Amino acid sequence: MTKQNDPDAVSIDRPIVLIGMMGVGKTSVGKRLAEALNLPFVDSDHEIEAASARSIAEIFEEYGEAHFRDGERRVIKRLMDGKPRVIATGGGAFLNAETRDLILDQAVSIWLDADIDVLVSRLAGRSHRPLIKGKSAEEIREILMGLVSERNPLYAMADHHVVSNSRPHGQTIEAILKVLDNG
Ligand code: S3P
Repeated sequence: MTKQNDPDAVSIDRPIVLIGMMGVGKTSVGKRLAEALNLPFVDSDHEIEAASARSIAEIFEEYGEAHFRDGERRVIKRLMDGKPRVIATGGGAFLNAETRDLILDQAVSIWLDADIDVLVSRLAGRSHRPLIKGKSAEEIREILMGLVSERNPLYAMADHHVVSNSRPHGQTIEAILKVLDNG
C-alpha cells in the first residue's frame, strides 16, 4: 500500500455511500472499505429487512416494489445522520430524487461500476433478487441492459466513479482510498 493510499491518511467527516448496480459488489467492498477506514458499515437492504422482519424478496411479494422503495427511502434518510460510516445502498436507491439529493448533499458518493458481462456472471443462477428471480443468464443480461441505460446517467452524478470489474476487491478498495484521499 502506497503512502497515498494509506487509510490512516484519509480523513472522513461524512458518510461514504456506495451506489451502483446489483451484483457490482457494494456490500462486500463496503464492508472491507469500512474495516480499512475503521468506520461502521451498514447495508440499506439489510436495514430494510431488519425493520420489516422480512427478506427483500418477501417484501416485494407481499407488498410490492413501491412499498419496498418507500422503505428504502426512509431507511437511507435515517442512516444519513451525518455520522461517518460506510453505507452500501440497493441498486435502485439512487433513482429516488429525495434520496439522491440527500446523498449528493451530505455524503461522499461513490459509483461502483462493472461491465454487464461481469454483473451477469455474478448474478446468473442467484434467485433471491426480485428483479431477476428465476431468469436465465440471457434474460438477466436484457434486464440489466435496460436498468443500466436508465440508471447510469443518474449514477454518474456521484462524486466518484470507480470501476471494479472482476479485479480482486482489495484493488477496488485501493482505488476508492485513492479517490477519497484526492478529495
Ligand atoms: C435492487 C437491488 C437490490 C435490492 C432490490 C432492488 C435494484 O440491492 O435493493 O433487489 O433495484 O437494483 P443490491 O444492489 O444490493 O443487489
